[in-house]
Amino acid sequence: MSAAAPDAPDRSGLRGPVPVAVAGATVLLFAAFVVGLVAGWRTGLIGTLLGIGLLGAAFLVAQVRPRTISELVWPDEREAGDAPVAAAVARHPVRRRWVLGGAGLGALGGIGLLAWLGRDESRRTPWRRGVHVVTADGERIRADEVPVGGFGTVWPEGSERADSASAVLVRLAGDAEPPTVLEWVVGRRIVVYSKICTHAGCPVGLYQEIDDSLFCPCHQATFDAARGAVPTFGPASRPLPQLPLGVDGDGFLVATGGFAVPVGPVRG
Ligand code: FES
Repeated sequence: MSAAAPDAPDRSGLRGPVPVAVAGATVLLFAAFVVGLVAGWRTGLIGTLLGIGLLGAAFLVAQVRPRTISELVWPDEREAGDAPVAAAVARHPVRRRWVLGGAGLGALGGIGLLAWLGRDESRRTPWRRGVHVVTADGERIRADEVPVGGFGTVWPEGSERADSASAVLVRLAGDAEPPTVLEWVVGRRIVVYSKICTHAGCPVGLYQEIDDSLFCPCHQATFDAARGAVPTFGPASRPLPQLPLGVDGDGFLVATGGFAVPVGPVRG
């Protein structure tokens, strides 16, 4: 009677429900991180996803490494002296799967981290297609209730305290002219521009109806609100970015997109 064959050694490196659950959650977190980058989710949320994902990856590395390293070269192979690490990995499908999976996870995290670190923060405001234009009190604004010569600070709905998103709403005395993007003007006269001065970032705070000029009090830069907010006086060299603007089905002002160029001063 022959003896029973010994159990095959556990070569997977990870066993048990907890590591498997952590591995699945980590993959989902990195996937959500990449989706968040592309979709422009809030920075805090993206950073949280990345941070927890990296913690999960670190946990998995701690789980896998001791066993995998010891198993990369099997005892019999070590004794035979014929098993370089790479060859041992290539020969065994389980080990190859873990090594490739780990490398892929690391590459995904690395690419995402580089993309996040290299993002252009000045383009990232909460303005998006479909976001309503609201007052500081969060009230939506009907296009037909903006008075001639009306001027005020407005915000994207839900982000009434986001400094980079503050904007000025103007109902011009006359029709807007190029280089104003005319498709982004409501009723030929209602325009919204970024409130952040392109010179040094002060808030543009004054509007003069007689010549449709916007004025920054810090260093006296003046912008022509009827002609794309181009600078007409002072140290600013770039126009105030214009917000793509439209109206919804109920007549309320709504963004039809985000700013196409960076808001505020552009450095470097
Ligand atoms: S910050 Fe506006 S003119 Fe300098």
